[in-house]
Amino acid sequence: MSTATIPAPVKSDIKIKYTKLLIDGEWVDAVGGRTFEAINPATGDVIAHVAEGDEPDVDKAVKAARKAFESGPWQKMSASERGRLMFKLADLIEKHKEELAALETLDNGKPIRDSLNADLPLTIACYRYYAGWADKMHGKTIPINGPFFCYTKHEPIGVCGQIIPWNFPLLMQAWKWGPALAMGNTVILKPAEQTPLTALYVGQLALDAGFPPGVINIIPGMGPTAGGAIAKHMDVDKVAFTGSTEVGKLIMEAAAKSNLKRVSLELGGKSPNIVFADADADAAIQGAYFALFFNQGQCCCAGSRLYVEESIKDQFVEKLTGIAKSRRVGDPFDMKTHQGPQVSREQFDRVMNYIDIGNKQGAKLVTGGSRVGDRGFFIEPTVFDGVRDDMTIAQEEIFGPVMCVMPFKDIDDVVQRANNSIYGLAAAVWTKDITKAHAIANRVRAGTVWVNCYDVFDAAAPFGGFKQSGIGRELGEYALEHYTEVKTVTVKL
Ligand code: NAI
Ligand code: MG
Repeated sequence: MSTATIPAPVKSDIKIKYTKLLIDGEWVDAVGGRTFEAINPATGDVIAHVAEGDEPDVDKAVKAARKAFESGPWQKMSASERGRLMFKLADLIEKHKEELAALETLDNGKPIRDSLNADLPLTIACYRYYAGWADKMHGKTIPINGPFFCYTKHEPIGVCGQIIPWNFPLLMQAWKWGPALAMGNTVILKPAEQTPLTALYVGQLALDAGFPPGVINIIPGMGPTAGGAIAKHMDVDKVAFTGSTEVGKLIMEAAAKSNLKRVSLELGGKSPNIVFADADADAAIQGAYFALFFNQGQCCCAGSRLYVEESIKDQFVEKLTGIAKSRRVGDPFDMKTHQGPQVSREQFDRVMNYIDIGNKQGAKLVTGGSRVGDRGFFIEPTVFDGVRDDMTIAQEEIFGPVMCVMPFKDIDDVVQRANNSIYGLAAAVWTKDITKAHAIANRVRAGTVWVNCYDVFDAAAPFGGFKQSGIGRELGEYALEHYTEVKTVTVKL
């Protein structure tokens, strides 16, 4: 562990401007008048009180979104004009990127250099990518039997509820809004209760860009209340969710029991990261470290089961431990910081509990394992060696800076073990042998496979899960089908 810095107090120059609900183009208080606290995870301090939406607020937002979908300027707007508004939104986010990055770091705790260099550029690129799609999504003409002209149209689904998590607040909003708005839907976004602030800021930028009232609505609030109200609403046509597999199942159940709204889910993972002895050692070590520890380990696709070929395992663990000890953990507003706090007290406790379980089940703690400092939710970068596949820490999503290293013998051994999981979100392989690389790419059941790299994201490349990691794909052209209905039109000639 390097000398951990004590986090600086909240930067006073970040003014929190938007804390209300955004419904029908207006900032309003919650019907019930309630608010909840926004916390700075680096200090535990309250930084704002945010309007807490519930069922009546969701109901108002759904009415506004329905009206905007069925009549008024959005409904009449051409596809290219919709794209133009989205380009404008991207430009406005770019114009305010420093302020948004600071707000993201304040609310979430991620190091400012990550907010600036990863979250903001990816967010802006995502809006631009989907802005480009707005007028490029078209149907087909189909040669059916008889004197008929048959064609398909790709129409928007309607009112889309979107429930997002706290690990990449700005980016998850972009992944959800991008395809939804490009295809002409209207949206009701529920940001995570841990990180509502940047979503609200972008809400104002969307109004400034000229999105008509009711097209975008934002309801901060708690999961079971505000989120639950969206999932079960009879007039919401689709719900998109990113978060835990447990809640994903509740969302699907609510959709089934209400109006069979369309459902897309991006859920948990326990992604195998496979390192062969013939890999470029430095790249694999850096890559394996990044794959797990990026974003304080709070990534759905974190490379959290690190399989290293037997012959190089010990030296690999030693090098990883060296990196872990050299990381700067502390004030996320310090540009030199590598690792900030976990997002909340709850997540901090959850991760510390997994470390405890790892120790009790006999995994070998080689570095880390403790809290850093006595303020905020910081955890040392932690590495467990001697992990077995049947241990809890090798099976469940930890969502924190805790690495589990396991040796493997050969391709058959590692493929079988990699696939022995309820999840199938991502995987990676490190090798110089293209035969091994393709064997892993073909045989591992996961939505994304990275070869000699990790966490390479692009708005154009689809992302999502096999098995209990989700339903559907976000990003790329594939996401558009989750925001459109296909209409078949047959004309007698
Ligand atoms: P969560 O799944 O409870 O929360 C994600 C979002 O769902 C939030 O906006 C929350 O308010 C909402 N939500 C919660 N309960 C709901 C309900 N009954 N109906 C509708 N919406 C609801 O995740 P949480 O509690 O923040 O974290 C728990 C674990 O979930 C983490 O430790 C991690 O393992 C996993 N997770 C995975 C994420 C991913 O990117 N796939 C993101 C966040 C958490
Ligand atoms: Mg939860």
